[in-house]
Amino acid sequence: MTPRRLPSEFLLGCATAAHQVEGGIENDWSRFERQRPSPVADGSDASTAIDHYRRYAEDLQQLAAGDQDAHRFSVEWARVEPEAGCFDSAALRHYRDVVRVCRRLDMEPVVTLQHFTLPRWLAERGGVVNPAAPRLFARYAAACAETLGDSVVWWLTINEPAVLAVQGYLNGLWPPQQRSIGGALAALRGLLRMHAAGASAVHDVARRHGWDARVSVAHHERRLRPRAGATPLDRAAAVLPDFIFNRWFLRSCVAGRMLPPVGDGRRVPDLRGSLDFLGVNYYSEDTVSFDARVPLTLFASMAPDPDLPRSAFGWAIHPAGLRRALNELWLETRLPLLVTENGVADNDDELRPRYIVAHLNAVLDAIDDGADVRGYLHWTAWDNFEWAEGYTKRFGLYAVDRETLSRTPKPSAALFAEICRTRSVPDAARVTALAR
Ligand code: BGC
Repeated sequence: MTPRRLPSEFLLGCATAAHQVEGGIENDWSRFERQRPSPVADGSDASTAIDHYRRYAEDLQQLAAGDQDAHRFSVEWARVEPEAGCFDSAALRHYRDVVRVCRRLDMEPVVTLQHFTLPRWLAERGGVVNPAAPRLFARYAAACAETLGDSVVWWLTINEPAVLAVQGYLNGLWPPQQRSIGGALAALRGLLRMHAAGASAVHDVARRHGWDARVSVAHHERRLRPRAGATPLDRAAAVLPDFIFNRWFLRSCVAGRMLPPVGDGRRVPDLRGSLDFLGVNYYSEDTVSFDARVPLTLFASMAPDPDLPRSAFGWAIHPAGLRRALNELWLETRLPLLVTENGVADNDDELRPRYIVAHLNAVLDAIDDGADVRGYLHWTAWDNFEWAEGYTKRFGLYAVDRETLSRTPKPSAALFAEICRTRSVPDAARVTALAR
């Protein structure tokens, strides 16, 4: 098979998040990580992470040397606004410089405003369910837009609201460590309002200055489908969790209303028009069976399809799911799509080369099917702090030595660089050769 060309102007790069790479951050997560016994799998924390806050210039240079032409990163709210209403101009200048370096290296910056973490002053006052959170998020978003907006076009308000609601409020595995359906639904409502307010703040600043700003949420798509040989109960158990996790937020944005069953259908100020494109994070899919013992997840028990290969996280590897997701989301929203995350936990870089090629082929398939996909951002550049998994799960193209913090390219880094340089996706046989 000949290599398949990527469309011209297709963005190719990596995605990161501040807390996972920067080090030196004090937020709700840093407090969580200090609990004993540790809630993090390897007892580690992100106090140093990979020291990217200090090394960003050489780090970005490394990605640009691999011909990447886009870079997604997040601004850390707790740095920029360490006390409510007090903005730290040095922190804002730092992110301005990150954007400047991206531009100098010809990498299109894609900026996330909130990637799972909150400043403590907000977390201590209810976090995302505080009725003031949308207004406070809008004030912070406006400060970021004023500082960065002359050089940033692509904005993501909130990373994966549904994942944050599930992990923080339903499973209790992340801050604020709650375990209730009511709490998770309230978190979703709060995050929807925050997204609307944040998007509107970015749009307002851009309009006032005459800047181009395209805004989205980073949506995590993880289809929950009935297991093979499903009973009617299994099928019924999959419907509501799948809708709430995968569609509720987006459909509410399109409708401009807080849709049932999470909301009461009422209009949300500034929600309509809050999406100019759609950021899509895709890793895997799950199968669902009915289980009377799990009321918290509405009696849906999730598991990877036993017929599919798995990552080091145990997640099913299913590139066809990315094609399906892009096609469905395109038909549903008719918004340009940007793959804002896709990657694999793979500690020895055995799966990653094929994973990348298979998923980029899935993107090309979706484009051939008619979906308007503008780019692909791989999760992630460097092995980093993988939330409650600590440093035990490795998603990077580059390995990071935990002692010296030196960065070493893995075979998949060479492969991704070749894709970026040639702007085409090689066939599988070539991948094996490169990975050797
Ligand atoms: C998150 C990342 C995370 C990745 C791998 C995504 O859901 O946005 O922060 O590291 O998944 O688990």
